[in-house]
Amino acid sequence: MTKNNEESDKSEDLNILAAGLVHEIRNPLHTISVNLQLLNEDLRIDSSKTGKKMLNRVQLLQKEVFRLQDILSDFLRFAKKHELNFVECDINEIIENVLDFITPEAIQHSIRILKNFDANLPKCNLDSNVIKQALLNVILNAQQAMSEGGELMVRTFQNGENIYIDITDTGYGIPLDKIDKIYQVYYSTKKTGTGLGLPTVKRIVEEHKGTISVHSKEGKGSSFLIKIPFQLEPKSRES
Ligand SMILES: Nc1ncnc2c1ncn2[C@@H]1O[C@H](COP(=O)(O)OP(=O)(O)OP(=O)(O)O)[C@@H](O)[C@H]1O
Ligand SMILES: [Mg+2]
Repeated sequence: MTKNNEESDKSEDLNILAAGLVHEIRNPLHTISVNLQLLNEDLRIDSSKTGKKMLNRVQLLQKEVFRLQDILSDFLRFAKKHELNFVECDINEIIENVLDFITPEAIQHSIRILKNFDANLPKCNLDSNVIKQALLNVILNAQQAMSEGGELMVRTFQNGENIYIDITDTGYGIPLDKIDKIYQVYYSTKKTGTGLGLPTVKRIVEEHKGTISVHSKEGKGSSFLIKIPFQLEPKSRES
């Protein structure tokens, strides 16, 4: 067995173990959550000072339990193997969908969305749902980097056998010494980030035989470039 095979077997075992552990934690967490909800309902009708104080505590615990449940769900989504369903798609249309979804929040944060789509882009064999998820992760990062406002530019173009999606923001950028870390599982500089966004994007893009690269300047902004061959030989992950 080659070293690479051994390493991937090892990480496969770890994935299975970790997913099992997550499932074990999820069940008691669910019980805690249900009981906290019952306590919440009981305490809501108690108008005494102590009752109100206890209700506050219960609500705080509920918030933390929700957060833990979210972290576990994100992890399971990341670790789960899935079968890809390749279908001929219009990538511009997929991006439009994602942008429609984030536009209300972008407006709230004074983010201007600029589109520069190649109208002659060839159709591409993709799993549109997972590609949507990947694009959403990159676009959400861009949005989160511009909480004080800015510009989000999304461009598509073709070069040779590949289509390119360029997502550029004018946000806070990534420091040079951190740029190698952004695809690492659990690397996050955000208070509530899980650090699974970009590792998921990278995995999805690679499952489509593509690549993702980044250029960034601290204080100026970041550009993520996704390249995907449009005549893909569909490659499914084993389930
Ligand atoms: N457009 C961007 N501008 C600035 N920093 C970025 C950008 N995209 C990613 N980063 C940096 O890379 C880190 C990892 O991103 P990633 O999407 O994996 O995790 P996250 O956004 O922190 O959490 P989540 O799991 O919720 O996506 C971010 O915490 C941030 O420091
Ligand atoms: Mg993210």
